[in-house]
Amino acid sequence: MEHQFWKDRWELNQIGFHQEEINEYLSSHWQALGIRDGAPVFVPLCGKSLDMLWLREQGHAVLGIELSEMALAQFFTENQLPYTREERGHFIEFTSEQIRLLAGDFFSLTPEDIAPIEAVYDRASLIALPPEMRRGLCQTYGNTLTR
Ligand SMILES: C[S@@+](CC[C@H](N)C(=O)[O-])C[C@H]1O[C@@H](n2cnc3c(N)ncnc32)[C@H](O)[C@@H]1O
Repeated sequence: MEHQFWKDRWELNQIGFHQEEINEYLSSHWQALGIRDGAPVFVPLCGKSLDMLWLREQGHAVLGIELSEMALAQFFTENQLPYTREERGHFIEFTSEQIRLLAGDFFSLTPEDIAPIEAVYDRASLIALPPEMRRGLCQTYGNTLTR
């Protein structure tokens, strides 16, 4: 779908969706979900969301996917996190302590690419896709969640 549209948004810094604060619904409701300590959390279409830092601070391993490599590089540099970058098949993998982010197309993921995950945190992902593609996103969650 509109890969170039999103890459251009990042190149032009037209990222009004990005929040400079941790999402308050995440921090106020996460505990109530009963997700076990340390459970790996998947963050689809992650951008450079600071929510990933919050999840890591709670002790979760974080796996994200994002089309824009620029977004991921910004995430690590802006948060002063040392990282490695490696090309892996369809994806470019960025890793830092407890955070693994893939640059590439969500719809190229296989369950093996993201296993094991036990929870999905989705903020502004579904709305980034045209309605006919949203079902595919949810099916991928269902195929990969281990509980
Ligand atoms: C509305 S933004 C939300 C970003 C992030 N979740 C947040 O809360 O800031 C949608 C993001 O999805 C990314 N994106 C769009 N289509 C994608 C796809 N097929 N695979 C991976 N990322 C995608 C865009 O580059 C953009 O960063």
